[in-house]
Amino acid sequence: MTGSPRLEFRDVSKRFANARANSRQGGGFVVAVDGVSLSIADGEVVSLIGPSGCGKSTLLNMGAGLDPVSSGQVFVDGELVTRPNRHVAFMLQKDLLLPWRTIVENVELGQEIQGAPGRERRQRALDLLAKYRLSDFVAHYPHQLSGGMRQRAALARTLAVDPSVLLMDEPFSALDAQTKMVLQQDLARTLADTGKTALFITHDLVEAVALSDRVLVMSQRPGRIIEEIVVEAGDRDNPMKRRQHPRIAEYVVRLMGLLQIEQAAA
Ligand SMILES: Nc1ncnc2c1ncn2[C@@H]1O[C@H](COP(=O)(O)OP(=O)(O)OP(=O)(O)O)[C@@H](O)[C@H]1O
Ligand SMILES: [Mg+2]
Repeated sequence: MTGSPRLEFRDVSKRFANARANSRQGGGFVVAVDGVSLSIADGEVVSLIGPSGCGKSTLLNMGAGLDPVSSGQVFVDGELVTRPNRHVAFMLQKDLLLPWRTIVENVELGQEIQGAPGRERRQRALDLLAKYRLSDFVAHYPHQLSGGMRQRAALARTLAVDPSVLLMDEPFSALDAQTKMVLQQDLARTLADTGKTALFITHDLVEAVALSDRVLVMSQRPGRIIEEIVVEAGDRDNPMKRRQHPRIAEYVVRLMGLLQIEQAAA
């Protein structure tokens, strides 16, 4: 993991106009993110945790170029991010599959927009769907699939465009505990196999430590990074195994402590 970072935030802040601003926030603005600097190297997987409303999604949206920064800069592969671009893929809690397209057509969408030839993009979509055990459902529509299957299809769609960086905003939080573990395993294997760089938000502390190389902790709004925990608990390609590592509990307790301190200070 050498060379320039894949994803970098340099002193990034975000203010939103606030119709009901109080004097403490001042100037009619809510400061959602306050001077965040962070750097993610090639192949690193980093998770971001913090209290609700602390600015996590706002930060990720700026990384994806979906929301402009108020100050500071975001770079992907050294290029300034000013709008959504093909090097960054975004995955959300809601799968956002288009209901009128079949599963394979949904997975092809990003490549279609990029102008990839029809046969090539179909083959890539089918290969990815096979990898996520969805070969029997390629011609189904999203409503015919379970939540876990839809999220696997969304993962296939995210990877189909071969992004440099994956940004994920609570990708599995709507799933039941067992389905979630299966998806975590799928994601972890994929990240290990492809060497992709990822930043993901979660409220699940075990998920954060089981899947990532580092966990970043944000403060209450205005969100700042207050702590970084480097996870050393064996390979991260097998979260089921990692969960059983003796250090995991230690990390989770530490993160719980950090979040409680922040909540109590609110
Ligand atoms: N488009 C917007 N306009 C105004 N304020 C916004 C907008 N988007 C977010 N905010 C405010 O910015 C703050 C941070 O919101 P954000 O969605 O980033 O939090 P979060 O950490 O992702 O929370 P959660 O864990 O609940 O998803 C909140 O106070 C929110 O009300
Ligand atoms: Mg959020």
